[in-house]
Amino acid sequence: MNDTVAAFDDWIRTDFIELNSELERRYRQQQDRANVVGVGDEVKAQLEAVGCEHTKLLLAQGNTDEGFEQAFDLLGNVGLYLAACRRHGLSDPDNDRTSPQAEASALAMHIAASIGVVPRFATAHLCTHNRAVNGHYKRFTNLAAEQCFIDYNSKGILAFKRAAEALLKVLSLGISHPISLNLFDAAKHALEEVYHSNDTLFTQLDPDDFFYGVRPYYKPHHVGSQVYRGANAGDFAGINVIDMLLGLCKANEPAYGRMLVEKFLYMMPQEQRILRDCMRQQSLMTEFLEVAPKQHHSRWYQQHLQAFLKLCQLHGEIANQHHQQLVQRYIVQPAAQMEQQHLQQLTASGPQLAGLLQSLTDLRDRRAGYQRDDIVTSYRELSLLRRTLGED
Ligand code: HEM
Repeated sequence: MNDTVAAFDDWIRTDFIELNSELERRYRQQQDRANVVGVGDEVKAQLEAVGCEHTKLLLAQGNTDEGFEQAFDLLGNVGLYLAACRRHGLSDPDNDRTSPQAEASALAMHIAASIGVVPRFATAHLCTHNRAVNGHYKRFTNLAAEQCFIDYNSKGILAFKRAAEALLKVLSLGISHPISLNLFDAAKHALEEVYHSNDTLFTQLDPDDFFYGVRPYYKPHHVGSQVYRGANAGDFAGINVIDMLLGLCKANEPAYGRMLVEKFLYMMPQEQRILRDCMRQQSLMTEFLEVAPKQHHSRWYQQHLQAFLKLCQLHGEIANQHHQQLVQRYIVQPAAQMEQQHLQQLTASGPQLAGLLQSLTDLRDRRAGYQRDDIVTSYRELSLLRRTLGED
């Protein structure tokens, strides 16, 4: 890491966190916790100016080509700075035509274009690719709610990835291979871990502290003249690998396919490759359906199908938990109490809350295989497979 990059990284890990935390402390003291206007203006000015100095130097330095990891990490630092400016009202896509942080935007665009991702911080920067120094990883603030949120997002993402890796290995062995049963079992353990981790998050994270002090750093914001949506915990390939390999969601279904296309550049290049490869594969559900007429009496079929259907059930339960617990408690309920003037751009992707909830409901229904007339779900296929259980 060269000196300019190291100085910026050091600032992000120290003063940047202190300045954000100080602003959060002041916002919190108000009657209307969501207001940021006219609060801590001197602190905001310091945050913007120091960040600007760092990014100016880095921009002038140009491409130092220290490899992908360094470039991705630096992009994360610029991204955290831009997201903090948005959080404190130092940029606002409703009022600006372009980002007021011109140098940081130019730097973010230069790095992002060179490594093939969006020019803003992504989930990987805070969760899976956030190097700790002496036990401390990068964050916006020192709020306990933020650490809780990042820790449990990371745990959930890593466990989803383990489940996806196990399912990908079944592809090369085939569903009837004896070892595939072990792989189904590994995927089950990983999904159970996601469920328990989400449950712990639900009991430990304070709804108001999350809603007013953590979520606002994930708002959409300008980089240059374009607005980019906020990061969300779904910006990795594994969740969709599980969806598609289980056969619960299909890449050729328009709404689901659109979501995949939209998220590609929010993921690291290696994740993009995994997702692209997976989109070309036949699902394991299709494999079971193809062999069912001739094999449903076989011992292997009964055992392996039972394990497979358990995975489908767990994946649906996790989607339901995300929807009924996390989204309800940490977004929908506090939003209902928030003053009307702050309701715009509430979510990471920007669309109105009702629209976002509908697309999350559709995703949940696909994953749970519920019966729906207006979207494609695997209800019929799952019922068919369930009927072949116990027929040996
Ligand atoms: C997406 C809320 C934690 C997995 C979303 C979205 C919201 C949301 C509102 C839609 C993003 C948008 O605005 O476009 C929350 C809240 C959480 C939470 C309030 C906790 C306080 C988690 C955790 C996981 C997770 C721990 C597990 C890894 C996902 C996934 C998506 C997503 C996979 C992408 C959409 C999908 O494929 O389902 N979340 N989330 N979330 N979240 Fe969470």
